Amino acid sequence: MKLWAGRFAKETDNLVNDFHSSISFDQRLFREDIAGSLAHAAMLRRIGVLSEEEERLLCQGLEEILLDITEGRVTWADEAEDIHMNIEKLLTERIGDIGKKLHTGRSRNDQVALDLRLYLRREIDTIAGLLLVLTNSMLTLAERHTLTWMPGYTHLQKAQPVSFGHHLVAYTQMFSRDLDRLADTRRRLNVSPLGSGALAGTPYALDRAGVAEELGFAGVTLNSMDGVSDRDFAVEFIAAASLLMMHLSRLSEEIILWSTNEFGFITLDDAYATGSSIMPQKKNPDVAELVRGKTGRVYGNLVGLLTVMKGLPLAYNKDMQEDKESVFDTVDTLKKCLLVMSPMLETMTVNKEAMNQGARQGYTNATDLADYLVGKGIPFRNAHEIIGKLVLVCDQENRLLENLTLEELRQASPVFDWDIYEQISVEACVRKRNHVGGTGPEQVSRSIESTRMILEKMSKCFTGVNESC
Ligand code: ARG
Repeated sequence: MKLWAGRFAKETDNLVNDFHSSISFDQRLFREDIAGSLAHAAMLRRIGVLSEEEERLLCQGLEEILLDITEGRVTWADEAEDIHMNIEKLLTERIGDIGKKLHTGRSRNDQVALDLRLYLRREIDTIAGLLLVLTNSMLTLAERHTLTWMPGYTHLQKAQPVSFGHHLVAYTQMFSRDLDRLADTRRRLNVSPLGSGALAGTPYALDRAGVAEELGFAGVTLNSMDGVSDRDFAVEFIAAASLLMMHLSRLSEEIILWSTNEFGFITLDDAYATGSSIMPQKKNPDVAELVRGKTGRVYGNLVGLLTVMKGLPLAYNKDMQEDKESVFDTVDTLKKCLLVMSPMLETMTVNKEAMNQGARQGYTNATDLADYLVGKGIPFRNAHEIIGKLVLVCDQENRLLENLTLEELRQASPVFDWDIYEQISVEACVRKRNHVGGTGPEQVSRSIESTRMILEKMSKCFTGVNESC
């Protein structure tokens, strides 16, 4: 019999049972559901609603159920609808009528809101941990490549030389913002909705703050209707995850490009590439492609949840049961992608020579030639034009700017002198950009250091130690 069957004269149709049951997916909230129940039971005893003996039996029962679930000894009952009622049913089967007292002063509406917050808080900590590993390993890689020159691109056309280290540090900046967003989401979700009841609060003198503290929350929600109907934190999490996936996807796209025969900048380790069932020569960057592809499903989860929520009147509506699969799928996808990215990057071979060669092609030093003329007093716009004409000559004769003779250069502008050649080598172009945020090797080393410090500070936001986060 259903826990809510009192006012019903008829059994639920089997089709409906099947349709509204969520146990197939919300079973993963069992830890949080039991943690919330344990704290709730202890509080009910403190305020005199339960006797000490009742609390002891309830908690013992819940602990045993927790162990049995963890060890795979529990079979879920579809007709018990969801994780909350499944656990309550198990409890009552095991300890008898006392189990029926657990739900005093509580509704599944505040219960599910609590479970989801607890679940996301834990998963955000795990995800942040994985992201920290990835970001730190990229910083280590960047450190090794502050003197590895490669072409920087705009419009995917060669633009100016940079170091590979500089290019990698760019991604660590994105990841550090992602961490910041996760920390922010975590901070905002870390309030307890328990005590909101079904929607209007509860007539019992619940110790909301005590339960919140026991569960590691920084406070309690301040409006019971919002407490049960707010899913902003889930949307925020998927939004932060979407941005993170976007960054992983852009990195993946570059890995795919760099590993082509045309670029040849990197070679993926055999353990992180796959073959073709027909073409014997193939070595494909499937891992990077899949990360890029999975970004689509995370965006889908974001739009899905936003759409579920957009038309809902206050307070709880069953539509909100649809929040879980979006959240769970996002958590799973993100963790898988982060896990595979770090070793793929760590094991790839960086083909320095191909990168360096690439940096010399495509007139990547043209801006520096123009800047040279500016140094000799020529207005930038004129300098731009003069060098543009030299590029045209080189293009027609298939030469590089640094291979033009001084005589040829002087025909374009008489101010050219011998020192031009040392100023337009790839290395000189990179080294000259020696300011905060520039690609000059010293600056890249400094930005690696600063980023490490920022990461170190941010890592504390995810352990619950640093409450100022
Ligand atoms: N399984 C439900 C959900 O995920 C739990 C809350 C149900 N509340 C209710 N009043 N039907 O949203």
